Amino acid sequence: MHLFKRKPIVAVETEENGTPHMRRALGTSDLILLSIGAVIGAGIFSALGTAAAGEVLADGTVVRYGAGPALVLSFVLLGAVCGLAALCYAELASMIPQAGSAYAYSYATLGEIVAWIVGWALVLEYAIGNIAVAIAWGGYFDSLLTGFGINLPGWMTHGYWVVKASSDPEVLALLDSAPRLLGIPILVNIPAFTIVALVTWLLMLGVRESARANAVMVVVKLAVLVLFVVVGAQHIDTANYTPFAPNGFRGIHQGAAIVFFAYIGFDAISTAAEETKDPQRTMPRGILGGLAICTLIYVIVGFVATGLVPYEQLRASDPLARALELAGLETVSWIVSAGAVVSMAAVLLVFQYGQPRIFYAMARDGLLPKWAAKIHPRTQVPWVTTLLTGVVVAVASLVANDAATYDLTNIGTLAAFAVVCIGVLALRIREPDRPRPFRVPFLPVVALGGAGACVFVMKGLPISAWIGFAVWMTLGLIIYFTYGVRHSVLRRGTDAAVPPLKDSH
Ligand code: ALA
Repeated sequence: MHLFKRKPIVAVETEENGTPHMRRALGTSDLILLSIGAVIGAGIFSALGTAAAGEVLADGTVVRYGAGPALVLSFVLLGAVCGLAALCYAELASMIPQAGSAYAYSYATLGEIVAWIVGWALVLEYAIGNIAVAIAWGGYFDSLLTGFGINLPGWMTHGYWVVKASSDPEVLALLDSAPRLLGIPILVNIPAFTIVALVTWLLMLGVRESARANAVMVVVKLAVLVLFVVVGAQHIDTANYTPFAPNGFRGIHQGAAIVFFAYIGFDAISTAAEETKDPQRTMPRGILGGLAICTLIYVIVGFVATGLVPYEQLRASDPLARALELAGLETVSWIVSAGAVVSMAAVLLVFQYGQPRIFYAMARDGLLPKWAAKIHPRTQVPWVTTLLTGVVVAVASLVANDAATYDLTNIGTLAAFAVVCIGVLALRIREPDRPRPFRVPFLPVVALGGAGACVFVMKGLPISAWIGFAVWMTLGLIIYFTYGVRHSVLRRGTDAAVPPLKDSH
């Protein structure tokens, strides 16, 4: 079974971390700060709108049912699902602390082809996820400019596929009013494109988020959400809570499937396992504590947003700003937009930073061509993949539909989470005696429950997401069987001769 050849964990441990024992300095509160920094972003600021309101095309086709005010239950459900997956991440991260995250864990637990599939799915989490964040950023940036009295023309702030998927007559009218090139309406999200270009440029220069920048970001995010809640709560109209669950459990489930995006990122903190004090106790407390806090914040924000305006009015790429504005709170709306713009730029930076490093890990293993691991001699940046990711994400965010990109991101990420849950179980069976700095309690229940719960959330996504996922995975398998299979370092027993990456994580 060559396809399922596993990468020995010894090789995983020794090959790239030149510092085998990093200083164990992180405590529970540091981990919680890290997770809030990575997690809060476009999901709560933007995907919340579609999750509450659902999505109906202009011809009346229902793409998904919205949760309505019961969105708060979607958040609670997701907190539990992610809690199970997070525990599994923590165990593998404490055993295999290495670049590549779920990709590396799968290589060591379930073998090469599964690792490739997971790595390929992570491209959806990182690159496609960033298209969604960029579009959300564009929405809030537009609100911000409006606050300054600057109104960009609609064709410059709405991508073609956003307009096509809209049921708002004002947005649909852009199809006719936009300038045309060879008969095709020009509908492009210039702000989304520009922010990705800017972030890519910073990353090419070698910029990365520091602990201090993360702390500042956490304060900004929490401050604007607290402002939203405190001011918004005073303008709640309780009539908006009836009906509470307009589409029953179907709406709660389908709403959860899109707003899952708001939880993506807690997996990233599992990579800090080797820098954590007493990981057996701290890691689960940090991960679960961060998750609990984010869930609580999401529930409160969701409660206030659906109380401020009738939930149908939240369908926008900037729903929190929109809700405040509709409630007549323009200044607060403007401040929230400013905070959202800063917070989401930070999320973009983290994901644009992460994607090239996953490509790097795959190229180092020979599954992608060596040029994908090219490091710039001066900046130490994997520049080819940084640039490639930047160009693809920037161009796609010009025209893509935000809801569809959330869906694709979520399906890929949930699939990776499910594999990680199974991977923990597989490794316990295959190598029961290997030291585990952190062990998942009640393992079979947690691992199988986690994998099952992820698949359940996936099932709430529209058919278009499954088709996109199938196409993406087929493409991935074609690449693996035409390239990876023949160049894999593990199968050939050769070295990929890839330069080391200094600061990967
Ligand atoms: N959870 C991150 C966000 O919502 C990806 O932006």
